Amino acid sequence: MKFFVDTADIAEIRDLASTGMVDGVTTNPSLIAKAGRDFKDAIREICSIVPGPVSAEVTATDHATQLAEGRLLAKIAKNVAVKVPLTMDGLKTCKALRAEGTMVNVTLCFSAAQALLAAKVGATFISPFVGRLDDISEDGMQLVDDIVTIYRQYPEYKTEVLVASIRHPMHVVVAAKLGAHVGTMPPDIMRKLYQHPLTDKGLAAFLADWKKTGQSILPQAKAAAE
Ligand code: E4P
Repeated sequence: MKFFVDTADIAEIRDLASTGMVDGVTTNPSLIAKAGRDFKDAIREICSIVPGPVSAEVTATDHATQLAEGRLLAKIAKNVAVKVPLTMDGLKTCKALRAEGTMVNVTLCFSAAQALLAAKVGATFISPFVGRLDDISEDGMQLVDDIVTIYRQYPEYKTEVLVASIRHPMHVVVAAKLGAHVGTMPPDIMRKLYQHPLTDKGLAAFLADWKKTGQSILPQAKAAAE
């Protein structure tokens, strides 16, 4: 499963990218507003940090303007994935951009029927928003299950399921069990994935016992301790 980080915060992206766990980045207009950066400058900088797909979202709602915006965004860097909303105009824009070789992430997906349409127009990624469905007492992970199941019936569909609106580590784990290709998550969720109190407790016990031996693995550390 690929991990994308869902933020436009450059410092967070740099820090997490240095771990080797970041395969791509997703942004949206809300995240760009939160970062307080010029949109195109931010996308250019993110693309230079992370070589994988970096989603940059169009803001027009009509096909012609979306296409013009998408073409401009795609010119920023070759790893830009243009994000379009799951509307009829967005699907037309997806089809046109894919024909030009641009990666497209179809966003704001809330039903399996919508995901089917995105695959038919050749989307690179479909983004079901699991957290926002959970927020209204629907089952976001059931939608991921449905999309993965449907796509598996049709090997000609190459669209990757990019689980978005992730709110906690179990969303990531369940998405992985279902076979979703990608999870995009806020930086704090990515950090929460490694945390476990038994790891901390076990490490503290190992270190205490190791100290009792008086040994050191590196010779210079032993010399410094003496
Ligand atoms: C990513 O592509 C989405 O824009 C993002 O995951 C939405 O998350 P939210 O529902 O927490 O805003």
